[in-house]
Amino acid sequence: MLDRFGEEAARDALPPATHAYISGGSGDEVTLRANVEAWRGLALRPHVLRDVADMDLRTELLGVPVAAPVAIAPTAMHQLVHPDGELATARAAGDAGLLLAVSMFANHSYADVARAAEGTPSWAQMYLFRDHGLSRELAEKAGESGARAVVVCVDGAAVPRRSRFAKGAFAPPDDLRFPNLAHVGGLTTAITGFDRGMTFDDIGRFAEWSGLPVVVKGVLRGDDAARCVAAGAAAIAVSNHGGRQFDGCAATAGVLAEVVDAVAGRAEVYVDGGIRNGADVVKALALGARAAFVGRPVLWALAAGGVPGAAEYLRELVADVTRVLAFTGCRTPHEATRDLVRAGP
Ligand SMILES: Cc1cc2nc3c(=O)[nH]c(=O)nc-3n(C[C@H](O)[C@H](O)[C@H](O)COP(=O)(O)O)c2cc1C
Repeated sequence: MLDRFGEEAARDALPPATHAYISGGSGDEVTLRANVEAWRGLALRPHVLRDVADMDLRTELLGVPVAAPVAIAPTAMHQLVHPDGELATARAAGDAGLLLAVSMFANHSYADVARAAEGTPSWAQMYLFRDHGLSRELAEKAGESGARAVVVCVDGAAVPRRSRFAKGAFAPPDDLRFPNLAHVGGLTTAITGFDRGMTFDDIGRFAEWSGLPVVVKGVLRGDDAARCVAAGAAAIAVSNHGGRQFDGCAATAGVLAEVVDAVAGRAEVYVDGGIRNGADVVKALALGARAAFVGRPVLWALAAGGVPGAAEYLRELVADVTRVLAFTGCRTPHEATRDLVRAGP
């Protein structure tokens, strides 16, 4: 979709190591590829003759109105792809009427992003540090920033090895700023400071500290999702971090339905990983996701086409979702039900 703002266009626009950091995954990148292929391995069984003359894609994510059931996943360091970093992404998201999740590793503070584009709703993503005082301060900042939810990422139990780098990791340029981490002591201290002892009991802290609803991101099993909800999660994001944590992890398309069933309507469920076009989004909706999040494609578009390119990419994705929903006989995202999807061609 929109090749001129896609992965190959970004390759031409970025230094090779930056492109590798964004586009790559861990290990042999089997999970990275499986995420994309698993959506393609599902087929839609369209309804016909169901009045779709008046399409309406609007929905709400934890009560926040958005133009479509598509949102931008939190990804680190947008200044790698655009001088204005996350402020640029927020403008593109606002143009398309979509919500943006802001990484703890952003080059702008949660508050600056929340203010960047009036009307662009944002969420603040973070991890739990061993020093809970640091996480408390970060969550409090998120609560005061204008962000509408905290996204707690729970897939950081070990340090990933990203295969496209000799030492397993990418070293960002020295001049990048990490304002959300100023009180933590910078990037390296933050990355090595994750609390590997985190359990379900810690989820509620983020709501207490921030006063915001909590999205738990990185869940891949129904039993875990149910425990997150019991621990106070308002939403579950089914995610394997785009195949960047460990290789051999299940593709998200394959586990989404299990999570939706386990949550049983008690929380919203989202999914990310390999979502690349409108059909992928509609398959996710049919399996029970309230929205699908995109990660890399937004960075590629921002690298290749700046704010106008990223905005055009997002608008085209929403147009594609509209098209596929209409073809499947759904006037709204909420009409996509599981019987629309089958395994196989
Ligand atoms: C370059 C890059 C940086 C990322 N940084 C973060 C991060 O800081 N926090 C986080 O929760 N997820 C992070 N992710 C994971 C994304 O939120 C999301 O799960 C993933 O990109 C979805 O897969 P997709 O890229 O195939 O759409 C990152 C992903 C990429 C590609």
